[in-house]
Amino acid sequence: MIVIGVTADYGLGSRIAEHMGAKYCRFFSKVFPDGESYLRLDENVRGEDVLLVQSMAEQQDKRFTEMLMAIDAIAEAHANNIYGLIPYMAYARQDRRFLDGEPISARSVLGALHNAGMSKLAVIEPHKEEELSYFKGKSIAIDVMKKVVRGAVEKTGAETLVAPDSGVSGRVKGVAEELGVGWDYLEKKRDRNNGSLSIGKGLGDLSGKKILVVDDMISTGGTIVQASGEALSKGAVGINAAAVHLILADGAYGRIKNAGVGNIFGSNSTGSKGCEMIDVSEDVAAALSPFLVD
Ligand code: R5P
Repeated sequence: MIVIGVTADYGLGSRIAEHMGAKYCRFFSKVFPDGESYLRLDENVRGEDVLLVQSMAEQQDKRFTEMLMAIDAIAEAHANNIYGLIPYMAYARQDRRFLDGEPISARSVLGALHNAGMSKLAVIEPHKEEELSYFKGKSIAIDVMKKVVRGAVEKTGAETLVAPDSGVSGRVKGVAEELGVGWDYLEKKRDRNNGSLSIGKGLGDLSGKKILVVDDMISTGGTIVQASGEALSKGAVGINAAAVHLILADGAYGRIKNAGVGNIFGSNSTGSKGCEMIDVSEDVAAALSPFLVD
């Protein structure tokens, strides 16, 4: 097995290779003056099983295109099997048609990867595990939320986990029970047309509690800001936030900090700066090993 970083693996590929006892290398890459990507692999992969690692956390379209180009290069170099690990999969939230006329973007991305020649795909915390059925080869979702939350709870002493959305509440409840801390959730309502947020069910009393707001991902930060404001209004003291994927779109970091959040914890599925990154490579390697030999 050779683990190959495409253009954005944030150090995860080399750590995973170490845990799996596999070789690691990277594509040489550059960007042409017009913005197009160039890739080249200076490694003999003939007859080898190859695991391509590419996160799509920023410049999503570019990272996706580069993954397709990498599959093409590896196939051309006569590798045996081409597998993929996507630490953060872009377009996963559009996993169904919410309004008439929309595409199912997750299906477009996953279908293209398989059609290009990838036979197995692992995704760290896709938005919903079921959407991986759009990938027609074998696939797994790798769960690292517990690892991230455990690290954040150890560092902050949080006593209560808060799920900012009913969609993630079942998972947050499960992690809270395993870690022996309390939990609560609020119901977030998002206007499909203008994206604005409002609260359905609010939080219970949190007087004097240190809390950790836990989500699967942070994009604009709106969800975390809403939950933090609600927690403060219910008496919480010491608010920190954790999410598997820290996308932190423009201005999100400042918005979250201004809302009174101390630290932002996340996995190294992205390369977000100024946050507490928790290395999930050991868990990912442990999930990948049986999946790739199967
Ligand atoms: C939504 O379903 C997700 O679980 C996240 O809550 C959401 O994507 C976070 O987005 P934002 O940071 O833009 O509020």
